[in-house]
Amino acid sequence: MEITNPTTTNSEAPKKRIFSAIQPSGNITLGNYLGALKNWISLQDEFDCIFALADLHTITVRQEPAQFRKHALEAYALLLACGIDVKKSLFFLQSHVPAHAQLAWVLDCYTQFGELSRMTQFKDKSKKHADNINAGLFTYPSLMAADILLYQADLVPVGADQTQHLELTRNIATRFNGLYSPTFKIPEGYTMKQGGKIMSLQDPTKKMSKSDENVNGCIYVLDKPEDIMRKFKRAITDSEACVHYGEGKDGINNLMDIYSCVTGKNYQEIEAEFSGRGYGDFKTAVGEAVVEHLRPIQERYAKYSKDKAFLQSCWNESAEKAARIANRTLSKVMRKVGFLPREL
Ligand code: TRP
Repeated sequence: MEITNPTTTNSEAPKKRIFSAIQPSGNITLGNYLGALKNWISLQDEFDCIFALADLHTITVRQEPAQFRKHALEAYALLLACGIDVKKSLFFLQSHVPAHAQLAWVLDCYTQFGELSRMTQFKDKSKKHADNINAGLFTYPSLMAADILLYQADLVPVGADQTQHLELTRNIATRFNGLYSPTFKIPEGYTMKQGGKIMSLQDPTKKMSKSDENVNGCIYVLDKPEDIMRKFKRAITDSEACVHYGEGKDGINNLMDIYSCVTGKNYQEIEAEFSGRGYGDFKTAVGEAVVEHLRPIQERYAKYSKDKAFLQSCWNESAEKAARIANRTLSKVMRKVGFLPREL
C-alpha cells in the first residue's frame, strides 16, 4: 500500500489514519472478534489503518516462552483469517519495530508517577498479579502512548477499558508538544457503531471472557460447530419467552446483539423474524448464524497457520513500512529533546 505522509498535502484529502493493537493472547473469543476485530476489518477501505499485535505489552504478565510464541503466531494467522488485508493496511508485531520500545522510554520521562498510579487497569492488575507488580505493568500506558503517537494516528478505536489510557496518551502528547513544538498529532477515540460489548452466555451481566468460570459462557472463534451450538443452546435467557430487546433481558439482548452482528439485521427485523416463536428456536438460529459466519474464517485460519512463509512475508512487509513511519517520528523526538545525533 501507499504510505501517505500525514504532513504532506495531497490534492485529494488524505484518508484519516487509524491505529489499534491487541495483545496476542491465545484463543480469540467471539467477544474480541465482534467487539473489536470485525470492526477493524470494516475500517480498512475508509481509513489508512495500522494494526499491531501488542506483544511487548503481553510480558507485563509472566509468559511461558513456547506458549507465548505459539499464541503470537496463532493470533497473527487468525487476524489475517478474519480479514485484515496487508495489501490495504499494515499489520505487524510490535516487537518487530524497535521504535515502540525506544519512544516508550522517552515518554516514560514525560509521564508522572501520579498519573500512572491513577490508572484503574494498573490497580486491577496489581491486585490480580500481586506477586509480580513489575515496572512494566506500571508504565504500560506510556508504551501504549508510544504505539499510537509514533504513527501520528488521528483515531484510535478502543474499548471502554482503554479510554483512560487514551486520555493519558493525549495528555502526554499535549505536554510534549507544549514543551518543545508540535511533534505529535493528538489522537481521538473512535467509537464503533456495532458490537461494542458481547456478554457471557452464562452471566450476561459480565463481559464474555476466557476467564469465565463456566466454559459455556464463552465462544471462541476457532470453536468447533458442535461446541458453538451447544453453548448457544445452554445460553441463559429469561422467563418471558418473547424475543424482544428490553430492560431486564440481558441474556436475550446479548443474543440479539450477536445475531445482529453476524447477520446485519436490526432489532426490529429480528423481533419480527421470531415473533410467536420460542427461545429454543432463537438460540438455534443464533448458533447456526455464528457457525456460518465463522466457517470461512476457520477455513482460512487452517490454511494460513500452516504456511509460515506466508505469515512471515506479511509481517515483514508491514513491519518494514511501519518502521519507516515510526522512525520519522522517533528521530524528530530525539532531536527535539536534544540527543546528539551520530551524524552531525
Ligand atoms: N492495551 C490494549 C489492550 O490491552 C492493546 C494496545 C496496545 C493498544 N497498544 C495499543 C490499543 C494502542 C490501542 C492503541 O487492549
